[in-house]
Parts: sequence; C-alpha cells; structure tokens
Amino acid sequence: MRPDLSRARPAAALHPNQEFAASVLKGLSNPRKSLPCKYFYDARGSELFEQITELPEYYLPRAEIAVLKTHAGELASEMPDAAVLIEFGSGLSRKTELLLGHMYNLRAYVPIDVSQDALLRAKNRLRSRFPLLEVHAIAADFCQAVPLPPAFASCPKLGFFPGSTIGNYSPSAAAGLLRNMRDTLSPGGRIAVGVDLKKDPRTLICAYNDAAGVTAAFNLNLLRRINSELEGTFDLDAFRHEAIYNPREGRIEMHLVSKKNHAMSVLGRQFWFAAGETIHTENSYKYSPGQFQELARLAGWQPVNVWFDEQKLFSVHELRSLP
Ligand code: AVJ
Repeated sequence: MRPDLSRARPAAALHPNQEFAASVLKGLSNPRKSLPCKYFYDARGSELFEQITELPEYYLPRAEIAVLKTHAGELASEMPDAAVLIEFGSGLSRKTELLLGHMYNLRAYVPIDVSQDALLRAKNRLRSRFPLLEVHAIAADFCQAVPLPPAFASCPKLGFFPGSTIGNYSPSAAAGLLRNMRDTLSPGGRIAVGVDLKKDPRTLICAYNDAAGVTAAFNLNLLRRINSELEGTFDLDAFRHEAIYNPREGRIEMHLVSKKNHAMSVLGRQFWFAAGETIHTENSYKYSPGQFQELARLAGWQPVNVWFDEQKLFSVHELRSLP
C-alpha cells in the first residue's frame, strides 16, 4: 500500500519532544553545560514570564510600551495602504495593539508564534477591539523561513519584532535571523525591532535577579520541565539562580549553579555536577544604537529611525530593506 504522503511528517522534522530531548542531552554533555532558552516557555514558564513583565526591576516591557505609545503613529504614517503587518513571536499580541490603533488601512495582521494557545487568545482579543481586521495566524517557529499566504505576496509588508527577543541570539545568529526576516518581508519591506540598550550593569543585573525571586523560579522551571517531560531527576534545591553581566560580550547571562557535587539523570543518561559548576541557560545581549544599526546593515537592512523612552532604557529601531 502507498503511504499517504500528504499526512506524513517530513523526515527531517522531529517530534517536538524529541528535539527537546536531543538539545538537553547535547547541552548537558558539553564541557560547559548549557540549555537553550527557548525551552523556558512551557505553560508554567509562560506564566512566570508574564509575572516577570510586571516586576518593578524588569523595566523592558514598560520602556518599550512607552516608546511605542509615543512613536507608533509616526511608524504607521510611513506605511502604504493595504500593507500586511507581520509579527515574529507574537505571544498575546499586546504591544501590537499600540500599532494597530494607528493602522487604518491594513490588509491583514499575521501573528507568527509557536504557541497555538497564545495565537487563539490573541485572535479573540483582537476581534473585539478591531472587528474589521483580518487576522491570519501562523503557528510556526519564526527562526525558520515562514511561507506567507500567496494572497499577500504583492502587498507591502511591515515586520514587528518587539521585546528584545533578538537579544537572546548571538550577534551572528541575530544577523542571520534578520536576513531571513528580510527575505520574508522583501521587496521594499520594513521592520520595527525592539532592542534593549546597554546601561549600567547594576540596573541590568537587578532586572534579571529580582527581589521577589520570580526570575529565579523562571530559570529553575526549566529543570522542573526536564524532570516532567524527559524523565529527569534534577533536585531543584541543588541549584541556585545566577544572573551576571558579561561586559566583554555585552550580555546578561543566566546560569543555574550547582550547590554541591552530585549526579542526576535525563532519559536514563547520567550527568555529573561539581559544586559551583553552572548550566548556562540564557544570554540577553544589549546593544548601543550604533552597534545594532551596524548589525542591521550586515543583514541587508538600512536603518531609518531609532526611538527611545525618556529614560533611554530601551530602543525601537525602524529598518528598511536594502535592494
Ligand atoms: C524578553 C524573552 C528577551 O532576555 O529579557 C526575562 C526573557 N529572561 N528574564 C530577556 C527573560 C529573564 C527575555 N526576553
């Protein structure tokens, strides 16, 4: 009998949990142990991240919203009619509403996110505030090139990539990502990117090591997730959260530090931890305006505008695709 190819999973695509398993086993086998930060966001992790966005120390969302409130009109006024707004990693699309409030002639809004649940919630919320807006949600990882519906092929496009998510990638990976986004948005596309600014390390460290311990719980939740999904035997009390600023790399690093010598296992494979050894779980790169513009140029984008909040904590860059 012939296999039904239309239903077959592409050979290269792994089951999501298999991909998680492979990255965890690989990360813990490194001489310097690490885990990819994209796995923070299970249901519990997403909830903790929501709480982080409300912490007094975590200035990023408030500063970015302040920038958007002041400059969204300007950004929108440069958009031609019947444009498509495409958001990469849209979550609940809350910041997007600040743009949509100024965009009266949009052809469609295309939120791209891995979470079906978040897309559905976003869609429902937008329906009540913008009943005439066509929302075409795509459940996908924005790191891959996302094919857009053919109906939008000839529409002018504006990309939106807020939240300083770009900061979770190394500069070279960030340039690669921006290049892929340019391919999706070209010809003549624009993009607005939210980028956290370099600032005094104390402010940065406090933002990633809050007094209430929410960021610590967010970091440790990754171990809890490995325990529940990958037969992990992590003792969460054997690790503590650490956030440091690495000035040479210009980034905040989050680590989980082992408090003692011990062994544990994942999917039956044993791993050893020495007291003081760390698992590097996240990088959050910070850019001066000029540094980010240089990165954007490398990725085929022409800087058009850069806006800041009053305290100059956060930046939103507008870029135009170079021919
Ligand atoms: C908003 C996802 C980019 O790096 O600031 C918050 C995530 N990590 N606290 C960031 C995060 C620790 C975050 N991103």
